[in-house]
Amino acid sequence: MPNPPTPADRFSFGLWTVGWRANDPFGDATRPALDPVEAVHRLAELGAWGVTFHDDDLVPFGSDAGARARHLGRFTAALDETGLTVPMVTTNLFTHPVFKDGAFTSNDRDVRRFALRKALRNVELAAELGAKTFVLWGGREGSETDSAKDFRAAFDRYREAIDTIAGHVKAQGHDLRLALEPKPNEPRGDILLPTIGHALAFIGELEHGDVVGVNPEVGHEQMAGLNFVHGIAQALWAGKLFHLDLNGQKGPRYDQDMVFGHGDLLSAFFLVDLLETAGYDGPRHFDYKPARTEDVTGVWASAAANMRMYLLLRERAAAFRADPEVQAARAASGVDDMLAPTLSAGETAADLLAGEDVDPAVAAERGYGFVALAQLATEHLLGARG
Ligand code: GCO
Ligand code: MN
Ligand code: MN
Repeated sequence: MPNPPTPADRFSFGLWTVGWRANDPFGDATRPALDPVEAVHRLAELGAWGVTFHDDDLVPFGSDAGARARHLGRFTAALDETGLTVPMVTTNLFTHPVFKDGAFTSNDRDVRRFALRKALRNVELAAELGAKTFVLWGGREGSETDSAKDFRAAFDRYREAIDTIAGHVKAQGHDLRLALEPKPNEPRGDILLPTIGHALAFIGELEHGDVVGVNPEVGHEQMAGLNFVHGIAQALWAGKLFHLDLNGQKGPRYDQDMVFGHGDLLSAFFLVDLLETAGYDGPRHFDYKPARTEDVTGVWASAAANMRMYLLLRERAAAFRADPEVQAARAASGVDDMLAPTLSAGETAADLLAGEDVDPAVAAERGYGFVALAQLATEHLLGARG
């Protein structure tokens, strides 16, 4: 059994996660409001390392300068008392009705300018608090109807906004990178940059793309029926995994934001295996919602469950890798043979064409043994192999 979490595990939580009052489209809140100062203390007690927030989670929308200073002062005092860090800050560009047609891609230019100012102001707060990542989730950037927008122009405006923020971050000399969070739908009928792949392609078109990466969320890729492990592997491969949102989801449906591992457990196992073996050293950030059925005690139990799930999976994944039978099965499956370049050193396409061909009939006879390997992984996950 794993040890309890410590700050060395780099677990972080959004204020909006444990602070969710469980109001949904069909029902009212089932829990009282949570004071951010209490959230900081409770998360620290549970062994978390960081806390993250949207501007409006900490300083209610429309607060004047005095109220803003008071809210921030109480919060930073709690950080000092507990040693909790702020690894990431994000901007709420979706709750207020002004954003109903989007923020950076609203058809209304005044709204676009308002949104950009809100994000730029929040960049300063992020830098002040020492955050290394500034997440941008464009939950309202999209449409319900395809006649509503000039989408090609919307991509111009989206690029303009992200480049303006990224350029500003560089000009100010902040040690801060931006991370775009993809999601296919909800709250908009369809959201722009719906998947990791779309976001990576968009980043490739930016002027300041060097400081822009992704913040993928488990459930968001799974809502689109996609393989999260593949998506994370590609983000890592592109050097763009700046941050990630861990949670649970049961396939393509509404955004469930369950506890990490309480959705697709096998995928969670292989995700932890990937993160740990790839040397990912960023935050292990939980973006989940304590179920509406839970009381305040259940909120903290669910926060602890996220971290324990990660630690359990990390332990199981390490045991999987260390098992000699697994190593033999991986070798039989040729998993590590992928590391060998397909062409030999110095070999050209012309050399390949001129060389000996393999007999496809012979090569086709091979069995890959992937099922045996998957069975071993599942047995490790179940704790059936020590
Ligand atoms: C969701 C989103 C949000 C964003 C967060 C950051 O569940 O739809 O993940 O929780 O991550 O708002 O801006
Ligand atoms: Mn989500
Ligand atoms: Mn998220």
